[in-house]
Amino acid sequence: MHGQWSSRLVFILAATGSAVGLGNIWKFPYITGENGGGTFVLVYLLCIALIGIPIMMAEIMLGRRGRQSPINTMKLLAKDENRNRNWVWLGWMGMVAGFLILSYYSVIAGWAMSYIFRTGSGMFIGATADGVNSIFGDLVSDPERLLAWHTIFIVMTMIVVARGVKNGLEVAVRYLMPALFVLLLMVVAYSMTTGHFMEGVRFLFTPGKITQEGVLTAMGHAFFTISLGMGAIMVYGSYLPRNTSIAQATMFIAAADTIVALLAGLAIFPIVFANGLTPDAGPGLIFKTLPIAFGHMEAGTLVGTAFFILLSFAAWTSAISLIEPAVAWLVENKGVNRLYASMYMGIATWLLGLGTVFSFNIWSDKTWTIPYLFKDYSFFDTLDYLTANIMLPMGGLFIAIFAAWLMREKSSREEMDTTDWVYKIWRILLRYVTPVAVIIVFLKAVGAIGVVE
Ligand code: PHE
Repeated sequence: MHGQWSSRLVFILAATGSAVGLGNIWKFPYITGENGGGTFVLVYLLCIALIGIPIMMAEIMLGRRGRQSPINTMKLLAKDENRNRNWVWLGWMGMVAGFLILSYYSVIAGWAMSYIFRTGSGMFIGATADGVNSIFGDLVSDPERLLAWHTIFIVMTMIVVARGVKNGLEVAVRYLMPALFVLLLMVVAYSMTTGHFMEGVRFLFTPGKITQEGVLTAMGHAFFTISLGMGAIMVYGSYLPRNTSIAQATMFIAAADTIVALLAGLAIFPIVFANGLTPDAGPGLIFKTLPIAFGHMEAGTLVGTAFFILLSFAAWTSAISLIEPAVAWLVENKGVNRLYASMYMGIATWLLGLGTVFSFNIWSDKTWTIPYLFKDYSFFDTLDYLTANIMLPMGGLFIAIFAAWLMREKSSREEMDTTDWVYKIWRILLRYVTPVAVIIVFLKAVGAIGVVE
C-alpha cells in the first residue's frame, strides 16, 4: 500500500526540507550577484508569489489526488478526468529533471561537506580574501577530491531513499533546519559589523538593470528553490493525509524558503563589499565569502563547522526529494524493491555527475552552445540552465494547465478542500496569471517578442 506521513507536520517538515537547500544558500546569492542584484531579487519574489505559490498548491493537490509516483499519478488523473494519455509525459519530464539536477547538486553538496573539515581544522582563522579564494581554487581544480565527495554524498542520499523517505527525515528537518537558521542569523550579525552592511542591503533591494536572461533565471530559480515543477512536491503530496490544508502548508513552505534565501543574501553581500570582492564570482561565491566571516568572528571555527554540517544536511534533505519520484516509480512499475531501485538510480546519477566534476577542472574548456538560449556554457552550466530555466518552468506550466483548465472544477475543489474565496483566487491565478507569465518570460528569453532593457 502507498505510504502516508504520520501527520500534517511531517509533510510540512519534509517539504520544507526539500525546498530549503543549496538553492537558498549557495545558488540564490551567486545568481543574484551575476544578475546585478535588486531587480533580479524583485522578479524572483514576484515569481514566487504569482507563479510559485499557485503552482505549488496545484502540484500538492495533484499528488494527493493521485497517491502514486508522479508518472502514475498523471496517468491516473488523465484517465479520471477523461484527458489525453500523453499527460503521463509530464511525470516523465519531472523524473528526468530530478535525476539531472541531482547529478550536479551532489557535486556542490560535496563542496559543502569538504568545507566542514576545512573550517573545522582552523584553516580560515584570520583568513584573507586571497587566501580563501585559493583554497577554493585548490578544491575545484582537483577532480579526485571532488569525485570522492560526490560519491560520499550520493551514497548518503541513496541510503535514506532506500529506507523510505519517511524515516529519519523528520528529525533532520525538525531540529537541524532551525539550527541552520540561527547560524545564518549569526553570520548576518557578523556582516553587520563589517561596515558594509548597508551596501549589501542596497545591492539586494535597490532596483537596477536586468537582462531578459536574468528574468528567465529569476523565474527558473523560483521553481528550483521551492522544488517545483518536477514531481518532488507531487510525490510528497501523495503521502499527505486528507485532512491537511494544502493552502496553509504551501504558504508556510514558501515563506520559510524565501526568508532563508534573503538571509543568505544579507549574510554574503556585505562580506563581498567589505573585502573588495565582486558579486559576480559565480558558483564559488559562498565558499569565497563565508570563510572570511568564520575566520574573523567570535568562535568562528565552531560556528563555521556547524554551519557547513547543517548546510550539508539541508542539501541532503533536498537531494532525497530529487530522486524520490524516480525511485517510487521503479518500485511501482518495475517490481524492484526500494533498495535496488535506489542503487540503480544512485549509480546512474553518480555517472552523470562526473560531467559536473570534470567541468570545473579537466573539461573546463569544453563548452556547449544552444542557439537562442546560451553560448559557451560548461557542462555544469548547461545542465543547470536546461533543468532550472527550462524543464522546471515547463513542468510547472503544464501542471497549471492541467489543474486549472483540464481537471473538472468539482475534482479540484474537493481535493483543495479550502474556503471558497481561497479556492477562487487560486483558480483565477492558476488559469490566467500563472501560465501567461511563464509563457511571456519564455518567449522573451528566446527573443521572440522583443527585448527589454
Ligand atoms: N529546492 C532545492 C533547493 O533549493 C532543490 C530542489 C529542486 C529540490 C527541485 C527538489 C526539487 O536546494
